[in-house]
Amino acid sequence: MTTRRLVVLLLLLAAGFMVYRLGLDNPPSTAPGGALVDVRLPDLGPEEMHGEAVFKLNCAACHGVNAVGIEGRGPPLVHRIYEPSHHADAAFVLAVRNGVRSHHWRFGDMPPVDGVTPQQVDAIIAYIRALQRANGIL
Ligand code: HEC
Repeated sequence: MTTRRLVVLLLLLAAGFMVYRLGLDNPPSTAPGGALVDVRLPDLGPEEMHGEAVFKLNCAACHGVNAVGIEGRGPPLVHRIYEPSHHADAAFVLAVRNGVRSHHWRFGDMPPVDGVTPQQVDAIIAYIRALQRANGIL
């Protein structure tokens, strides 16, 4: 490889890196948007309320408060795709522990969520199932 080619290559790499950094410093101005589904809210029992609180802290940033989804961030879990016969409770346990490789949507991958205990995941599942039932997703 000639020196000239090497210089061009290095310049391209540097430019690429700067574009990458710019992307990091200035996230796209299209702020994540609104809910993706309308959700009817049921009365919640104690475990479901606990699940709601844990969900708000750990999941709602992407899946939205009340699991309605957030445009540009993450899918609604109150959705036919996640009915128990298609995504059994184990899918929630695995999603939290291992993350999810994007396959149903175009939001990108879900990273593993640290610091949520198995009991808390159970409570989240109870909460999401209650929301789903109240919205005809059985
Ligand atoms: C950083 C964003 C983000 C966070 C935080 C997040 N998720 Fe996700 N989650 C996603 C995305 C995006 C998908 C959809 C992946 C796809 O395209 O199928 C997803 C998918 C899922 C799925 C479906 C799994 C499957 O097998 O298809 C479940 C269940 C889930 N999330 C539960 C949770 C729970 C519970 C929490 C909180 C403890 C949580 N998520 C936190 C982004 C997130």
